[in-house]
Amino acid sequence: MTQADPKKYHIKSFGCQMNVYDGERMSELLSDQGMSAADSSEDADLVVLNTCHIREKAVDKVYSDIGRLRRKDGSSPMIAVAGCVAQAEGREISRRAPSVDIVVGPQAYHRLPELMDVAKSGKKALDTDMPAISKFDILPSRGKQARPTAFLTVQEGCDKFCTYCVVPYTRGAEISRPWADLVNEAKALVDGGALEITLLGQNVNAWSGEDDKGQTQGLDGLIRALDKIKGLKRIRYMTSHPNDMTGGLVSAHGDVETLMPFLHLPVQSGSDRILKAMNRSHSAKSYLDILEQMRKVRPDIALSGDFIVGFPGETDQDFEETLQIVREARYSQAFSFKYSPRPGTPAAGMEEQIPPEVMDERLQRLQALLNQQQFDFNQQTVGRTTDILLERQGKLDGQLIGKTPWLQSVHIISPDLAIGDLADVEITQAGPNSLTGRIKERLAA
Ligand code: SAH
Ligand code: SF4
Ligand code: F3S
Repeated sequence: MTQADPKKYHIKSFGCQMNVYDGERMSELLSDQGMSAADSSEDADLVVLNTCHIREKAVDKVYSDIGRLRRKDGSSPMIAVAGCVAQAEGREISRRAPSVDIVVGPQAYHRLPELMDVAKSGKKALDTDMPAISKFDILPSRGKQARPTAFLTVQEGCDKFCTYCVVPYTRGAEISRPWADLVNEAKALVDGGALEITLLGQNVNAWSGEDDKGQTQGLDGLIRALDKIKGLKRIRYMTSHPNDMTGGLVSAHGDVETLMPFLHLPVQSGSDRILKAMNRSHSAKSYLDILEQMRKVRPDIALSGDFIVGFPGETDQDFEETLQIVREARYSQAFSFKYSPRPGTPAAGMEEQIPPEVMDERLQRLQALLNQQQFDFNQQTVGRTTDILLERQGKLDGQLIGKTPWLQSVHIISPDLAIGDLADVEITQAGPNSLTGRIKERLAA
C-alpha cells in the first residue's frame, strides 16, 4: 500500500546525548524538507524512534513503543526506527514489527528523505551503511536554537571494545570531525543563540585533528579555539575515557575560563581484575592519578562517572573495591547500572554470570553511597555565590531552573529573569538532586 506525503514529524530520542544531537539534526533535516514538528506522536504522520541499544530493557521498550503507535482506527503513522537498535538489528526490526517502514542507522540518517520516498511507494526501506561520505557534509547547517544550551558532536564511534559494550558495533570506528567544520558549527550555534556548548563523543577526549595552521591538536586545542568565540559563555565535554586524558586537557581546566569545572570520567569498576576482564586498559590507580592531577589545577572540579555492577566473575571483594574507589574519587553525581549481557559482545559468553539478586543488592549499596556523595557535594555549595545559566521554566509561578558551573540544577524565583539569562545567585538550600538559590544580580550576557 502506498502512503501519503508525511507533513508532520515527531522524533523521540532515547539513550545518550549523542542520540539527542542526532535527533536535533534529523529534525532540522526534515524541517528543511518543508515538514513541521508535531507536539506528539498522535499528531504526526512520520514518527522517528531514535533508539539506544546499550542495555536490555532499551530494546524491549522500542518494540512496545512501536506497538503503541497504532491508532484507535487501526492505522499507524509512517514509522522510522533510527539509532543504535536500528544499526544492530537491521531488517529484523521490520520483520518483528511489520508496521515499521524505515530502519536507518546512526551514520545514515541524512538519507531519511530518500528512505521516506521508498516507504511512500509501499516498500520497506533500510539503510545501515556506514558511508565514507560523512552525514555531516550533507546535513543542513545549524540555525536558531530553541535552548541556550547546545550539543555538538565532535567525535563518533569507538575503537576501545570494552567486552560488555555494543557501541563499537552500533556506531562504528572512531572518527574525529574536522577542525574547521566544528569551529563553524560552534559559531553557527552561538549565532543561533547558544550560550553553552557541550562537545560530545563516545570518547570525546580522543578527538584529534589539524587546526587552521596545519598543526595537530587534541580536544584541549579545540576547546581553546572555541573559547575565543564571542558570546560563547560555557564549554563542556563528555564522555571521556581515562586512557585519552591528556596533560593538555587537564591544564586547560586550569586556565580556560569558559571551560566548566565538570568532568564525566567513567571508571566502571574499582577492581583491576574486573577492569582487565572488561578490557578497560586502565587501572584503579591510573584513574585516581588522573583525578589527582585534575584537582591540582581545578580543586573544585565536579566529578561524574559510570559504573557497572555484576560484570561476569565479579566477587564480593571486587565489588568492595568499587565501593572503595568511589570513596577515594568522591563524585558529585554518577550513573550506575546492572551488567546487561549484549548479544555479540565477548562478556555475554563469559562464564560466572552474576545472579540478578546479587546484582540488585550491589547496585543498591553502590547507589546509596553515590547518592550520599551527591548530597554532600550539593550541601558544600550552600552559602556560596555562583553564576547560573537559566535553562528552563520551573513548575511554580515565576520559577526558573538554571545550572551551576558544576552542573547542579538550581531553582530560583524571579519574575524579572528569563531563560537564557546568566545570573549570580546565592545558594540557600541543597537537596539530594537540586539546589535552591536567591538572585544577587543579573550578569550581562
Ligand atoms: N564511552 C563511554 C560510555 C559509553 S556507554 C565510556 O567508555 O565510558 C554509557 C555507559 O553505559 C557506560 O559507561 C557503562 O557504564 C554502561 N554500559 C555499557 N554497556 C553496558 C552493559 N552491557 N551493561 C550495563 N551497563 C553498560
Ligand atoms: Fe563502550 Fe568502552 Fe567504547 Fe565506552 S570505551 S563506548 S564503554 S566500548
Ligand atoms: Fe545508546 Fe547508542 Fe548512545 S547504544 S548510549 S544511543 S551510542
